[in-house]
Amino acid sequence: MTPEEVLNEVANEVAVCEDCKLHLSRKNAVPGEGPAGSDLMFIGEGPGFHENEQGRPFVGAAGRFLEELLASIGKKREEVFIGNVVKCRPPGNRDPEPEEIAACSKYLERQIAAINPKVIVTLGRFSMARYFPNARISQIHGQARQVEGRLVVPMYHPAAALHQPSLRQVVQDDFARLPELIARGAPKQAPMPDKSEPDAEQLSLF
Ligand code: URA
Ligand code: SF4
Repeated sequence: MTPEEVLNEVANEVAVCEDCKLHLSRKNAVPGEGPAGSDLMFIGEGPGFHENEQGRPFVGAAGRFLEELLASIGKKREEVFIGNVVKCRPPGNRDPEPEEIAACSKYLERQIAAINPKVIVTLGRFSMARYFPNARISQIHGQARQVEGRLVVPMYHPAAALHQPSLRQVVQDDFARLPELIARGAPKQAPMPDKSEPDAEQLSLF
């Protein structure tokens, strides 16, 4: 299957999934959206009111701020993949429960494997916990760590920054460093000569 086919398959499955009780209050599942070839993938928490109405991620106030942040690094939302830890809205926007996150993680895992992004940005504590279970966001936000062969950068959730204005600049500063991280995560186009592992072309010179 191509990455696009995997994303479509996941979207079709979550639309009818009943693997946790969040399906009971779902109007539309929100599988996430963006190109299968995205370098950059954002993982939020779960759909809110507007997302549940529209079946699309980050279309409310937090989404507008996320779009602003993307614009600040010269990106449009259509260029990145935007998903969530749970695909169905927790009633009243309550926190997703551990068993709901566990039930839904298979979909996120397939999306990550298909997209194979260079950089994953976790938005908020639930997606951060996937990679850094015991970390505190106040201590590790904006710091890139190598996890399973890619860079993962935890950031505050845009909604948190909307509720707590002092976080706005923090999130903006963390975002400003993303272009450099994406470049660092990029496969080397012109590999630097590596003394320990000369490539085939170099070997042929000796
Ligand atoms: N907040 C999230 O975490 N995800 C969305 O899709 C929208 C708001
Ligand atoms: Fe299925 Fe995930 Fe929706 Fe739960 S939140 S019903 S696991 S798609």
